[in-house]
Amino acid sequence: MKTKITELFGIEHPIIQGGMHFVGLAEIAAAVSNAGGLGIITALTQRTPADLANEIRRCREMTDKPIGVNLTFLPIVNQPDYPGYIKALIDGGVRIVETAGNNPVKWLPGLHEAGIKVIHKCTSVRHSLKAEAIGCDAVSVDGFECGGHPGEDDVPNFILLPRAAEELKIPFVASGGMADGRSLVAALALGADGINMGTRFIATKEAPVHDNVKQAILAASELDTRLVMRPLRNTERVLNNEAVTRLLEKERTLGAALQFSDIMAEVAGVYPKVMQDGAMDAGAWSCGMVAGLIHDIPTVKVLIDRIMAEADEIIRGRLAGFVSA
Ligand SMILES: Cc1cc2nc3c(=O)[nH]c(=O)nc-3n(C[C@H](O)[C@H](O)[C@H](O)COP(=O)(O)O)c2cc1C
Repeated sequence: MKTKITELFGIEHPIIQGGMHFVGLAEIAAAVSNAGGLGIITALTQRTPADLANEIRRCREMTDKPIGVNLTFLPIVNQPDYPGYIKALIDGGVRIVETAGNNPVKWLPGLHEAGIKVIHKCTSVRHSLKAEAIGCDAVSVDGFECGGHPGEDDVPNFILLPRAAEELKIPFVASGGMADGRSLVAALALGADGINMGTRFIATKEAPVHDNVKQAILAASELDTRLVMRPLRNTERVLNNEAVTRLLEKERTLGAALQFSDIMAEVAGVYPKVMQDGAMDAGAWSCGMVAGLIHDIPTVKVLIDRIMAEADEIIRGRLAGFVSA
């Protein structure tokens, strides 16, 4: 399939694997890129720029297809060594960067000078337009359904995507709630040029996480996620568990007095415990409502081939049938 996104990134299928903390390692990124999509390594999971350089090298040993790196700009005082991570990815020959979180304007000139294409993840039309205005090459429009940080506007993709299509000139992919060929066709119909998936890619054979995580996604329905940290305006959609129940109880009882320090036990240092050790109640970890649509653990290639075949069948079969009738 050819879209503005496949053209921009030089990939075969318009399917991106979004950055995911402690999931977006070399193994999954290489598997997605080898299957014709765009695999993305998550920079901040690597403790140092040297570790990121090594992870890029590892990924390069597994694929010669385009890969990307996610740079999540955090709203914290003690900032990670972003210049170091950027140097590592440029030196590693990476030509695609997915930015997320705070406005990436400060980093764009350096990235563009190095010939890098930047896709910024946005949860609103207003942020998407800002990304376009500062010179991003594309956006990933992340609806309210998404795993991770959906922002504070709560606009689901059935509204957000066509609104983005009404306003944007640069291409965008639909992110949040994407799982299969139906998602891809719907996203294209709503004006996107591809899809970005997080949660769906965790439940694959190559995802380098504990099997407990994959089984938890399989067992979850669309009713099993919760929004945490809303009082801190840092809303995150996570899979419900004991820690999340505790966290929400603290949010209820403390109300407006809630501080980040009150919920440290439920949100700090959780990802290695969940993703590597399989300690499913260790704390709050991101998961999308799309868990309700995930019923198997295929290889990445089987998943991507299936999405493309299903999309083809829907477009040529079901949809074409409506217009010729
Ligand atoms: C476990 C997990 C960790 C994530 N970590 C990050 C991250 O570090 N940076 C980022 O930009 N997005 C992160 N995301 C968001 C994804 O890149 C993607 O935008 C989101 O998962 C899309 O929604 P979906 O899960 O419904 O597919 C994460 C998502 C999940 C499920």
